[in-house]
Amino acid sequence: MNKILVTAFEPFGGDALNSSMEAVKLLPDTVRGVRIEKLYLPVAFGRAAELTVKKALEIDADGVICVGQAGGRDKITPEKVALNVREARIPDNDGMEPHGEPISKDAPDVLFSTADAEGAVRAIRGAGVPADISLHAGTYVCNDLLYSVLHSFSTDAKKCIFIHVPYFTEQSTDKPTLPLADIAKGLEAAVESVICETDRSDYGMLCRQLDSLLEGTDNTVTNLANAAAFVYDALPGLNWAGFYTLNGEVLELGPFCGRPACTVIPMGRGVCGAAVQRGECITVPDVHLFEGHIACDSASQSEIVVPLYKNGRVWGVLDIDSPVKGRFSEADTEGIQRLAGVVEKHV
Ligand code: SME
Repeated sequence: MNKILVTAFEPFGGDALNSSMEAVKLLPDTVRGVRIEKLYLPVAFGRAAELTVKKALEIDADGVICVGQAGGRDKITPEKVALNVREARIPDNDGMEPHGEPISKDAPDVLFSTADAEGAVRAIRGAGVPADISLHAGTYVCNDLLYSVLHSFSTDAKKCIFIHVPYFTEQSTDKPTLPLADIAKGLEAAVESVICETDRSDYGMLCRQLDSLLEGTDNTVTNLANAAAFVYDALPGLNWAGFYTLNGEVLELGPFCGRPACTVIPMGRGVCGAAVQRGECITVPDVHLFEGHIACDSASQSEIVVPLYKNGRVWGVLDIDSPVKGRFSEADTEGIQRLAGVVEKHV
């Protein structure tokens, strides 16, 4: 996953501000190395969805998270379902006031969010912010947006979800509110959960893809070059991915993607040398805390190194760096070792 589109709404219904817009403004530009693109939408049936779909295609987003204000709710509520109906209590910002018509003719009555709404609830609560599941996104523009996005990307792998947020503290004196910073913190946790959801499920597929990519030739340089490019492209939030091969007592730089790197690493030195010496995979959440770490790119914050074997002997390592601290979870460690296994098979 590389990019997520996060949308929010402009003020509507006589309000001067919209909590979705103010909270989305506070989201960082990257989460776990995935770029967050923000888009602010008019509260308008049809038009909000058209702008969202257009932008998602333009930036080739891997996920679309739409955020809207639900004044009166006291928690952040990820939506489970969108309904194929438009029913307006008040006119939208274009003056449209539909009553009971379908959003899309000959389309399903109901579409389910393709990102895990319950997972998002757990993540928001984990950040200390109140959250609950909402069974459907109403019948106004928020529902219109979610339904149309899900329908447009129904044959696509994009993760799509809608998240309603309450008013923030300064917006209301008689309705439930949350501090704006808490709404933003909860949203960031939800974005992270959508990102991790995708990453978790991907390794089986990535191994199959890498396997078929390396099938065509048994040329080692060719396969290591393509494997480095594949890993660098397929996993989000990396700044280096590549190989060192063992020549006697030293590791020598092999094919890679990223900034130019140190060419020779003596046995036992750095994370790479340590992984070879120990004969096991090493995951380093914070490279600054690993004694002897060799910094090739000052942007690197975390790293994983997997030794590569043939006939019981180490012949090299797969080395992956990330500019994000703690980038490699247990699931990543396991998945990356499986990817390394695919490389071993083809070299
Ligand atoms: N950090 C590695 C050196 C190689 S670069 O990350 C590409 C290490 O400590 O072994």
